[in-house]
Amino acid sequence: MPDRTVDEQFLQQALDLARQGVGLTSPNPCVGAVIVDAHGDVAGAGTHTYDGVKHAEVLALEQAGEKARSGTLYINLEPCSHQGRTPPCADAVIASGIRRVVASMDDPNSVVAGRGFDRLRAAGVQVEVGAMAEQARRLNESFARYIRGGIPFVTLKSAMTLNGKIAPSRDASNTALLEQDQSNRASGTPPGGWLTGQTARAHVQQMRHEHDALLTGVGTVLADNPLLTDRTGFPRRRPLLRVILDSQLRTPFDSRLVGSAVSGDVLIFCSSASKDKKTRLCESGVRVEDLPPNNDGQIDLHAVIRRLGQLEITSLMIEAGAVINGAALAAGIVDKVFLFYAPKIFSNPDAVPFTAGVHSGGAIDAVQIKSLSFHRFGEDFAFEGYFRDPYQH
Ligand SMILES: NC(=O)c1ccc[n+]([C@@H]2O[C@H](COP(=O)([O-])OP(=O)(O)OC[C@H]3O[C@@H](n4cnc5c(N)ncnc54)[C@H](OP(=O)(O)O)[C@@H]3O)[C@@H](O)[C@H]2O)c1
Ligand SMILES: [Zn+2]
Repeated sequence: MPDRTVDEQFLQQALDLARQGVGLTSPNPCVGAVIVDAHGDVAGAGTHTYDGVKHAEVLALEQAGEKARSGTLYINLEPCSHQGRTPPCADAVIASGIRRVVASMDDPNSVVAGRGFDRLRAAGVQVEVGAMAEQARRLNESFARYIRGGIPFVTLKSAMTLNGKIAPSRDASNTALLEQDQSNRASGTPPGGWLTGQTARAHVQQMRHEHDALLTGVGTVLADNPLLTDRTGFPRRRPLLRVILDSQLRTPFDSRLVGSAVSGDVLIFCSSASKDKKTRLCESGVRVEDLPPNNDGQIDLHAVIRRLGQLEITSLMIEAGAVINGAALAAGIVDKVFLFYAPKIFSNPDAVPFTAGVHSGGAIDAVQIKSLSFHRFGEDFAFEGYFRDPYQH
C-alpha cells in the first residue's frame, strides 16, 4: 500500500524542481521529475528548460540509469505521448522498467490529455493521478490557457488605496504634486511616490519574472515614465516583452521605455499613427505594429492578445492606468486579478480611480471573482482571484 505522506513529499520535490524552470521554460510547461528506486531512495531528478530541450522525466531517467527499474516516477504533469522536439516520454518511462508513476495532473492540452497515462497503463505501469493537483495546476495555468486557446493567460495587477484610487489627483491645483512630478518622472517613480511598500513591490518584481510580457497604456507612460523591467536578477530565456497600447504613438522618444529598448523587447501597438513617428520609433529599436480598432475606435484588445499568442507569449500582466484597466475588464480579456491595497486614502475626489471610461450600456452586474486568496506584504495586503478557470476555457 503506497504511503501518501511519502508520495506527497516526493511530489513536492518534483513541484519545487518544476518551479526552478520559471523564466526558462515558456512556451513549454514547467515540469519537474523525481525517480525513487525500489529501496525508497532518490535515484534521479530533473527540471525541464526550453533550451535544455530534454523533458524532466528523461533527465531524471538518465540520472537514475538502472536504478529506475522497479522504481517510482514522481512528476507534476502527465508524461507526453507524442513526438515533439523529443520522442514520447511515456515510451522512455516504460522502457526504463519504472513500476509506478505518481503525477499531479493531466496534460492541459485537451487534444492529448490522458494519452500518456493510457500508454503507461497499457504497458502495465501503475498510474496514480491527482495528488497536489491544485499547486500543480496553478504553476502551469499560463501554459494551460496558451495551449488550449492560443492566447496568453492575462493577469491584471494594480495597486490602490483603501478607497480604490490608483494615483493622486492630477489636477493643476495640486502644485506640490506637480513640482514633485518633474523629478519623479526622470526616475520612474509615480507622481506622489509609491503607494505600496518595499515588500509588495519586491513581489511585483517576482510576478514580472513569472510573466512573458507586461502591458501598459500610453497614459501611464506619459504620467509615470516607467521602465517595466524584470529586476529580480533571475535568469530568463527570453527578454520580458514590454507592450504599450498607444493608438497615435504619443509615447515620447525620450521616455525610459524607448530609451531602454533592446532586441525588440518594447512593442507598441497603434491604430492611427503617422508614418514619421513609426519610423522614428523603429529607428530607436522599438517594434511598432498596427492593429485594427474595435467599434469604439480603440485598439481591439482581443486582437492584442491574439497577436501576443502568435508571438508565443503565454502570460501577460497588465500594469496600467484607469482607462486600460476599465477597457481590459470590459472586453473580458482578464483571467485573474492581483490587487494590492496600501493602508492609505486619497480623499481628493479627483484622485485616479481603479477603472475609468467604461460605458456598460446600463448593465451593472458585478463579475464574481473565484478562488480568492489573501496575501500580506508588510503594511500592505493583496487579493488574488480568478474570473475563470484556465483549464476550462
Ligand atoms: N497604482 C497603480 O497600480 C498604477 C499602475 C499604472 C498606472 N497608474 C496611474 O494611472 C494613471 C494613468 O491612467 P490612464 O488611464 O491615463 O492611463 P492608461 O490606462 O495606462 O492608458 C490609457 C490610454 O491608453 C490608450 N489606449 C490604447 N488602446 C486602448 C484601448 N483599447 N482602450 C483604452 N485605452 C487605450 C489610450 O490613449 P490613446 O487613445 O492615445 O491610444 C488611453 O488614453 C497615472 O496617474 C498612473 O500613475 C497607477
Ligand atoms: Zn515529454
